[in-house]
Amino acid sequence: MFGISREINKSRAWNKLNKYARKMQKVEMADMFAHDKKRVSRFSLDLDNMHLDYSKNLIDSKAMLYLLALANKADLKNKIEQMFNGAKINSTEKRAVLHTALRNRDNHPIYVDGQDVMPEINRVLGKIKDFSEAVRLGTFTGHTGKKLTNIVNIGIGGSDLGPKMAVEALRRYHLKDMNFYFISNIDGTACAEVLNKLDPETTLFIVCSKTFTTVETLTNAKTCRKWLIDSLGEPAVAKHFVAVSTNAAEVEKFGINVDNMFEFWDFVGGRYSMWSAIGLIIAIAAGYDNFEKMLDGAHAMDEHFRYADLASNMPVILALLSIWYVNFFGIRNHVIVPYDQYLSLLPAYLQQLVMESNGKSVDMNNNFITYQTSPVIFGGAGTDVQHSFFQLLHQGTSFVPCDFIIPAISHNEIGNHHEILLANILAQSEALMKGKTTAQAAEELKAKGLSSKEIADLKRYKTFKGNRPSNTIIFKKIDAYALGELVALYEHKTFVEGVIWNINSFDQMGVELGKQLALKILPELQGEANPEAHDASTNSLIALIKNLRK
Ligand code: F6P
Repeated sequence: MFGISREINKSRAWNKLNKYARKMQKVEMADMFAHDKKRVSRFSLDLDNMHLDYSKNLIDSKAMLYLLALANKADLKNKIEQMFNGAKINSTEKRAVLHTALRNRDNHPIYVDGQDVMPEINRVLGKIKDFSEAVRLGTFTGHTGKKLTNIVNIGIGGSDLGPKMAVEALRRYHLKDMNFYFISNIDGTACAEVLNKLDPETTLFIVCSKTFTTVETLTNAKTCRKWLIDSLGEPAVAKHFVAVSTNAAEVEKFGINVDNMFEFWDFVGGRYSMWSAIGLIIAIAAGYDNFEKMLDGAHAMDEHFRYADLASNMPVILALLSIWYVNFFGIRNHVIVPYDQYLSLLPAYLQQLVMESNGKSVDMNNNFITYQTSPVIFGGAGTDVQHSFFQLLHQGTSFVPCDFIIPAISHNEIGNHHEILLANILAQSEALMKGKTTAQAAEELKAKGLSSKEIADLKRYKTFKGNRPSNTIIFKKIDAYALGELVALYEHKTFVEGVIWNINSFDQMGVELGKQLALKILPELQGEANPEAHDASTNSLIALIKNLRK
């Protein structure tokens, strides 16, 4: 059995944490820094060129020990091994979870149902290499012999967010004569706005869908197919459409030759699939060498996660900190702020990774859960978001733990832009921790020459409570290797949280109900009669929309 037999919140480890958190809720981080000169080195970790400083958290050595005891209680070490070894830990779908096999760079055999998965993985990697290079070199051309310079990924969720985020992150490595587009939304505008820019003769569509049954993706793909055929005729499809899927039968049914299909497997979850052929557009955009470097970076993180002690294990530490705040401080949000324009899509990517994985309320033993699971993840690129939601981070009624991410060196060292960016990230984590007392605020106002009345009126508004936690992750530079490490870090963090919460992080049944209802509502919107079978609000909204569309 993969899950924990007893409810984790009834364990001694949980109780100890509960008690200790009450104590830590009264502690000031600044005091802990003052009393412990080694705090930074005690609460920092390094892997290659990646540095994690988690010293600005409401923790001390005892809190970390108790959190590690909770991880042990959840049998984390064994669970990690089970995942890497191909055990069927996705219990509801009876599947192995082997995105790590996709970047198993030392190529040791990994067995699922007695079969080594590596030869197939390597075969598809070879196919990705050959095809991406042929497209980049222009030796694989469109139907009329022109180079395919516009590459369009059609997919949604895990078949969109990962590749889109990575293509953007590696923009610096793109070939200058190529452009990359993503169509995900069923909203016709998404399709229309991309197609309006394109020339069919130079456009390659990559239809990405694990299941090849997702309505949005198939509808968008059909529209794009028609657009192509209207201009170049049916035979052009073979040169302008490829598919990435686990479902060869559906790919063929759609009209894409299976020779033009890149396989992946049901042991790769959608939100964990950018390392598979779902990442084909990454290899075309940034080059296969960079795609491999991304796999190498992820592999380095895999090895660290698998073999480092839990106490010095980056994903484990980040997960334990998250659990500390969610379950023992009652915090429901977590914010991720990359200070790097190229990583601007990382928060959106992590929203799916984290919330689709751990937004669950039934445990591995089929019980409704009585403790909190995934926090809400949000974020955006710094410094932009400093001018939007940071107000709440600094002065909202409760705190939101932050992850700050930045490269020390920018790909675009223009003037002093990057130093200003660096100064901002450091200032934000310092401000969140230190805050500003009312006395300090009053002092500042006095120095500005305000009257006593004005100072009394304003000083509270200018107060920052501080003591708000954050992690800082610094890279030397964001290249493909660093990107691989970073994404794998969050994948494993998410896994560890799931293990401790005793949930299956690898299914996503919560997305089904809305899909079913949409299928029911569609013909009702198209038909004459107004439906009465829904709740009063839905019935009336359907009627109103039909009226407006007349
Ligand atoms: O809606 C949820 C989901 O199943 C995701 O988990 C997945 O990434 C996405 O839809 C797309 O699925 P597919 O790749 O099968 O089209």
